[in-house]
Amino acid sequence: MQYTARDRLRFLAALGALPLSACAGGGGSTPAAPAPLPAPPVPPPPPPPPTGSTATLKQVFATEFEIGAAVQTAQVTGGGVDQSLAEAHFSSFTSEFEMKADIISPTQGTYNFDPADALRTFAQANGAKVRGHALLWYRTTPGYFTVGTASDIRDKLETYIGEVAGRYAGDIYAWDVVNEVVSDSGTDTYRQDDWFQAVGQDYIDWAFTAARAADPSAKLFINDYSTEFAGKRGRLITVIRDLLDRGIPLDGVGHQFHLSRGIDPNQVLAAIDEIDALGAGLEQHVTELDISVYNDPPECFASGVNCQTGYGTAPSDVPDRVYQEQAQLYRDLFDGFKARDSVTSVSLWGIRDSQSWLNNYPVSRSNYPLLFDPDGDPKSAFLAITDPDYVI
Ligand code: XIL
Repeated sequence: MQYTARDRLRFLAALGALPLSACAGGGGSTPAAPAPLPAPPVPPPPPPPPTGSTATLKQVFATEFEIGAAVQTAQVTGGGVDQSLAEAHFSSFTSEFEMKADIISPTQGTYNFDPADALRTFAQANGAKVRGHALLWYRTTPGYFTVGTASDIRDKLETYIGEVAGRYAGDIYAWDVVNEVVSDSGTDTYRQDDWFQAVGQDYIDWAFTAARAADPSAKLFINDYSTEFAGKRGRLITVIRDLLDRGIPLDGVGHQFHLSRGIDPNQVLAAIDEIDALGAGLEQHVTELDISVYNDPPECFASGVNCQTGYGTAPSDVPDRVYQEQAQLYRDLFDGFKARDSVTSVSLWGIRDSQSWLNNYPVSRSNYPLLFDPDGDPKSAFLAITDPDYVI
């Protein structure tokens, strides 16, 4: 709290240290010599933000980074539990899917901005920011984008990005310009998707250049998953270096961090360190954080096979030690994010366990990967990151 000179005068007058006339400027005929003023009282330090279940994420991380969540617009405008949690805890919102091209422009030249506009309105009404996700993602690219000559394809992409990034110019602090363009296979650098098949890697340059032109104030990100694994990260770094070498406007790297409970936090944090080590001054956002309660083999995520059997549909079906491991991992990660200056935004991929995409992906089974349980109550993971004294 800041004390003004006026506050100090009021305080002294109340103590009787100053005659009221000294405040009001009135005077008698023979004013007495003024008594020496005592030193002004030292204002008490502001109380620390609450910790534990009364804490709010945005208070706890206010001086560290934006703390965000992916949401569907209806979820945060319906007046329910999610809206209350969203308003209380998050300083940043990402559309879980309503800013993707298959929703915004399913057919060429038509645009549906209603849910995205409503999310912007919600965020701004709550003093929160919007993270744009994603201008280009192969999984949500309507087919019309990638047919025709390279020049047609470029025109369509530039028109789309101009419309979308232009509409939200100044209101979106960061855009995932391209999402998941890096190959999972060691033999290719770039994902061999429809974009790559149609025009090679040039579409990435076109997307960044168009985004910068449409909204010069947004930070432009390349976003991907599995950056905690050295192979994928190496390929991502190859792509990043190439973009930077050629002066393509890239400001940051988004790490999705869809994690399994058993992963070593140092392995995850190494992803941040390796991007820092490029020395390019890139910002880093954790864009889609969640920690599955399952420890699946890689083929589960890749093709839905050999996934661990679900624990059950009630949160209490999950053993306590699993929640404890999850909480410890969340704590270690948030401590690591706080310690790294390049991390300027951390977003959870959802608010409550019951709406996580991981209930349906890679297979259907109940998952409990977030900070709030299905009722919206804070989990151990929440307490672990908001209260350093909380014993897991
Ligand atoms: C997911 C959403 O959560 C789902 O609701 C949607 O059906 C598919 O997309 N990586 C991403 C996100 O970049 O956009 C994905 O979101 C999850 C994986």
